[in-house]
Amino acid sequence: KEAKLWGGRFESSVTDIVEKFSESVSYDKKLYKQDINGSKAHASMLVQQGLITAEDGDAILNGLAEIGRSIESGKFIWRADREDVHMNIEAALTDLIGEPAKKLHTARSRNDQVCTDVRLWCRDAIDQILGCINRLQVALFNLAIQNKGLIIPGYTHLQRAQPLLLQHLLLAYVEQLERDSGRLVDCKARLNFSPLGACALAGTGLPIDRFATSRSLGFTAPLRNSVDAVSDRDFLLEFLSANSIIAIHLSRLGEEWVLWASEEFGFLIPSDAVSTGSSIMPQKKNPDPMELVRGKSARVIGDLSTLLVLCKGLPQAYNRDLQEDKEPLFDSVETIVAMLEVTAEFAQNVTFNLERISRSLPAGHLDATTMADYLVNKGIPFRTSHDIVGKAVALSLSKGCQLSELSLDQLRQLHPVFEDDVYSFLGVANSIKKFCSYGSTGSNCVAEQISFWRDKLKLS
Ligand code: ARG
Repeated sequence: KEAKLWGGRFESSVTDIVEKFSESVSYDKKLYKQDINGSKAHASMLVQQGLITAEDGDAILNGLAEIGRSIESGKFIWRADREDVHMNIEAALTDLIGEPAKKLHTARSRNDQVCTDVRLWCRDAIDQILGCINRLQVALFNLAIQNKGLIIPGYTHLQRAQPLLLQHLLLAYVEQLERDSGRLVDCKARLNFSPLGACALAGTGLPIDRFATSRSLGFTAPLRNSVDAVSDRDFLLEFLSANSIIAIHLSRLGEEWVLWASEEFGFLIPSDAVSTGSSIMPQKKNPDPMELVRGKSARVIGDLSTLLVLCKGLPQAYNRDLQEDKEPLFDSVETIVAMLEVTAEFAQNVTFNLERISRSLPAGHLDATTMADYLVNKGIPFRTSHDIVGKAVALSLSKGCQLSELSLDQLRQLHPVFEDDVYSFLGVANSIKKFCSYGSTGSNCVAEQISFWRDKLKLS
């Protein structure tokens, strides 16, 4: 067995069971690029500070570049007995260039190294997710454009409430996704500080320059406190919280579209390209991708809760428990990216069943609140108007008709203020024309939103 990089004080090697249990290279090798870049920055700083010679520095930089190429070409052999990505790369560097490699870990610990790698990895992951969010926003926006003027029933409590323009509802999701992006942007700015040089926990007595490594890795500044730098994973909690909120937004959209694709609603027709069948029921066409989006949100939330529980009992500073942060992080990112991609794909592959939607509009007195507004315009206090319209609804329910089908005489028996102009407030098409408050579903307000998003999403 090869001696461990930390093996000096040990007389015997760890058992196979312990080795297998403790290794992380099987998954943290994902960090190889960040690990190599971090090491390059660190080595260059060591040269600058006179802690190692320029020749040693060059040997290290060239060696690291070579290892990077060998990893990328798939030739690199990852060894579980070398524990993690950091020691695999350092040991391979020693195999490759010999003595100079032994100077790379000067004034560095895996504790600051791992957390530097993870912060660098998160930066890229966040950029990737931001791109996916943007593409989904564009897909939802385009779906809205294709369905200009389409009125749908709006729901509260899943009971019919008021009419909505479909565009308005779709843009609600676009808004939510925009805040999701904002949370990630904030998170990225807050995590972009360098732990490198915090070493194990206390910093070092060697004359390093943490500002130099921070700068060369594109961090805003070095973290101020070395204990904080190696011990906290709040930036991951924040990142996974942001992902969880995205997951919840997507899950709600998934739920809505699954419902709309049902026979009972029949509003939405997913194309065959995004539907799957049943192995026993020949007639079936299921909206599986959106069900899985709903389902996978559980994983993303689970990843966050794993991390919350992981961190809650840890004393300062670094604890090996923290190695367990990586799988939930990777899983959360991989899952949220896939969820965003498939949702965009789904949005590009649905049509709305105009016939079913328009046939469904008369049900549920969607115009009742507009009728109450009519009475308010006539000077009736809103509470009284509410009561009068409630009675009109009861009357139309008893007659099996719509509010617009009640005669003026029938309405006047409820209140003498009713005049012929009430009919221009009734019926879904009339009702929706009355909305004019900022942010409402009125067509001018929605047109303003459309033009806002056209600019914001840079769609000409
Ligand atoms: N693989 C470890 C992790 O992910 C790296 C840091 C290990 N540090 C240590 N002192 N054992 O956290």
